[in-house]
Amino acid sequence: MSDVKRPVKITETVLRDAHQSLIATRMTTEQMLPIIDKMDKVGYHSVECWGGATFDACLRFLKEDPWERLRKLRDGFKNTKLQMLFRGQNILGYSPYSDDVVEYFVQKSIANGIDIIRIFDCLNDIRNLECAVKAANKEKGHAQVALSYTLGDAYTMDYWKNIAKNIEEMGADSICIKDMAGLLVPNAASELVEALKAGTKLPIQLHTHYTSGVASMTYMKAVEAGCDIIDTAMSPLAMGTSQPATEVMAKAFEGSEYDPGFDQNLLAEIADYFRPLREQWLDSGLLSPKVMGVNIKTLLYQVPGGMLSNMVSQLKEMKAEDKYDEVLEEIPRVRKDFGEIPLVTPSSQIVGTQAVLNVVMGERYKTLTKESKDLLVGKYGKTTLPVNAEVQKKALDSLGMKEPITYRPADDLEPSLEKFEKEMAQYKQQNEDVLSYALFPQVATEFFKYRDAQNTGIDASLADSENKVYPV
Ligand code: CO
Repeated sequence: MSDVKRPVKITETVLRDAHQSLIATRMTTEQMLPIIDKMDKVGYHSVECWGGATFDACLRFLKEDPWERLRKLRDGFKNTKLQMLFRGQNILGYSPYSDDVVEYFVQKSIANGIDIIRIFDCLNDIRNLECAVKAANKEKGHAQVALSYTLGDAYTMDYWKNIAKNIEEMGADSICIKDMAGLLVPNAASELVEALKAGTKLPIQLHTHYTSGVASMTYMKAVEAGCDIIDTAMSPLAMGTSQPATEVMAKAFEGSEYDPGFDQNLLAEIADYFRPLREQWLDSGLLSPKVMGVNIKTLLYQVPGGMLSNMVSQLKEMKAEDKYDEVLEEIPRVRKDFGEIPLVTPSSQIVGTQAVLNVVMGERYKTLTKESKDLLVGKYGKTTLPVNAEVQKKALDSLGMKEPITYRPADDLEPSLEKFEKEMAQYKQQNEDVLSYALFPQVATEFFKYRDAQNTGIDASLADSENKVYPV
């Protein structure tokens, strides 16, 4: 073994993706706080703890202020970088927002404690990343751009290398391969990491899910090929649709040049904290055995785990549960008609819902959802391959448009912060409230009313004291 040490860095996901993937993002701040002191001593590269679906889930289901959660985590993690997931121009929502909202959201995320912002676009359209990346640069945050990994004719090594080069030129600080569906198999990971390493000087991070059962092998191969950082989750919330286990990956590299140097006893204590919570979630049914284990259909149909569970509940509502297999087969067809795009929020929901409709209506594209139409006419950005011209024509006609949009979609969006400020003024307790409202007007309003009724308000002692005015 070589004497050169190149310890692999580890991002812990237990406070974000792990519970988003396994228990529908229902971990509360109270359940997080007692353990962060110990987590802070592990030596993680970062702890992913915010963004993605956590923001929506806080407001909608947990009746928590997501900003307050962030401030409490920041207060507890004295030595560890905090990381969030950001959906490019869609921020933490499901459709594009105007630039002023994107910039203000980035500014407030960093002001409240985020160090690393992982920014992705569901179409890998880099024009949708630029505003957030520039804002993170400006606020002196670490801008990581994530490539939404998927398979298909268009996704050659040249495709990935090209995007990586563009991302580096844009001013990103690192690149993440975001394999949301667990499609990246070990040998392909070696090839991809080597190609990216050859094409850019930026650190490479790999994010995958255990869904198809190959993830820990994929990490091993990727790290040997030069991958700098991997995402793992503490064992009680690892595997299945979540990430490989932190303890296991640390152990697997122990004694090698990639040894992260973690204390297994400390990790065991942290696992001991989460294990009774896991039991509780299992007992309540929040953690379903369905999301554990290996689902090889992921590799067959290339559908992310979260999309499968969404699809099941949609079919249930329509009393069409027997159509499950038909819909599974329809998804790749819709994806092809929609330009062979990656399937990740929000494109996964758009393709999934359209596939359900196609099957349940008994006729393909008899009904197009609003989101499908928008996607087909370019309102989410540029698709990887051209979309099906016939279906696109249908969308254009029904929207009264002659031509699809070829420019950056957000160029059409007027600044909107001021309008949001006016609409929610009566509920405002902190500057950040306007952003909660901008992303989820109804859900946030309900939360504000709940907060007013509780008469508790925010904990001002941790609030952003600088009170910056933005944009400038
Ligand atoms: Co993920």
